[in-house]
Amino acid sequence: MLADHHRIDRAVWRVGDQEVPIRTKVGVRGHPGVDAALIALAEPLRRGRLELAGRVLDLSGAPAALPVWAMGAGVAADWTVASTSAAAIAAARATLADAGLQVPVLAALPWEVDDRFDAIVWRPPADRGVRRVAAELAAVAGRLRDGGTAWLLQHKDEGAKRTEKAAAARFASVEVVAREAGWRLSALRGPLPATAEVDPWTAFEAPDGPVRAIVGAFAAEKVDPGTRVLLGALSERGAPLERLLDLGCGTGLLARAALAAGARAVVAVDDDLAAVRSAAYNLGDDPRARVVHADLTAGEVGSGFDAVWCNPPFHVGRQVVGALSRAFVAAAHEALRPGGEAWFVANRALPYEAELEGWAAWGDATPAAERTFKVLWARRPG
Ligand SMILES: C[S@@+](CC[C@H](N)C(=O)[O-])C[C@H]1O[C@@H](n2cnc3c(N)ncnc32)[C@H](O)[C@@H]1O
Repeated sequence: MLADHHRIDRAVWRVGDQEVPIRTKVGVRGHPGVDAALIALAEPLRRGRLELAGRVLDLSGAPAALPVWAMGAGVAADWTVASTSAAAIAAARATLADAGLQVPVLAALPWEVDDRFDAIVWRPPADRGVRRVAAELAAVAGRLRDGGTAWLLQHKDEGAKRTEKAAAARFASVEVVAREAGWRLSALRGPLPATAEVDPWTAFEAPDGPVRAIVGAFAAEKVDPGTRVLLGALSERGAPLERLLDLGCGTGLLARAALAAGARAVVAVDDDLAAVRSAAYNLGDDPRARVVHADLTAGEVGSGFDAVWCNPPFHVGRQVVGALSRAFVAAAHEALRPGGEAWFVANRALPYEAELEGWAAWGDATPAAERTFKVLWARRPG
């Protein structure tokens, strides 16, 4: 199961008669194929309508497909790839290694990229809300050199026109250059001088204190209702905690509860850099806490945990990906010491029980009045 999760598959992106081999994996948008958005890039690339020369920042989310395309098409550009997803970064690195290309792949939110570029290819994370898109737009505008162009790639049903309109307030010109199956590619030229960065942080009050989060991180605006149910069930649990793993930590509320309950060491891990930044803030400078940017545990988190607390994801973007939740259960099993316990919360309809059959024991700890979520615990064989 975990080997399946971490397997980096092969896919091909077609640009005219050029075949661009890429690597991709569970958790990367478009897996097992290539992200459908790339269709709107293919034709303009083939016709040379995308000016990709000089220093180019690839924020397309496609795992380094653009630098590999450029190499095959004989286009000279100096590429940097940046991504917030540890899974996408692993896939991009594999794509580049296959192609024999030396291209930096940064784990960075757009406003953390400390450089300027002649071109930026940007696919806004529409599933993360308008505030996140606005913060990224400002960052993109602020990272272009004079005369540079940002290429905005978005679907009409994901708010492309709204983003184009927002871009018109930050750029001298916004021109739609391609429309393909609902996908729109626009050239944003001439960032306006007064372009100010947008504060990407938001804040709310949780029962255990204030929370700050990067907009677009999971549950950045309020405590997730599933997490609330899990925290309630865990507060009844009573057993002492030693080493705890918060797997898929989001803003870090489960990890924070474990610290408050006296855990000796807590590791919080998330694939999403926005979550990692948020959790790092919310766990403060507690020396017992460590926050890790990784795709599941990806060998970076260690093992032998006494407990894993987890509200597993079951989406990639807007697509339901059952394999991801199953991989979370397998990663929890692997991270635990023999006899260690995992606690999960999930929507009642999701079939997690089947994944727990191979454990030493498991049970349902859903609070009696709860109707929407279930809390399951499971013990690794001792
Ligand atoms: C349902 S949210 C729970 C977040 C947080 N624990 C809470 O309760 O608010 C699931 C989290 O898993 C993260 N995630 C998704 N895929 C992941 C992966 N492959 N490895 C690690 N984290 C991942 C998401 O970014 C998200 O923050």
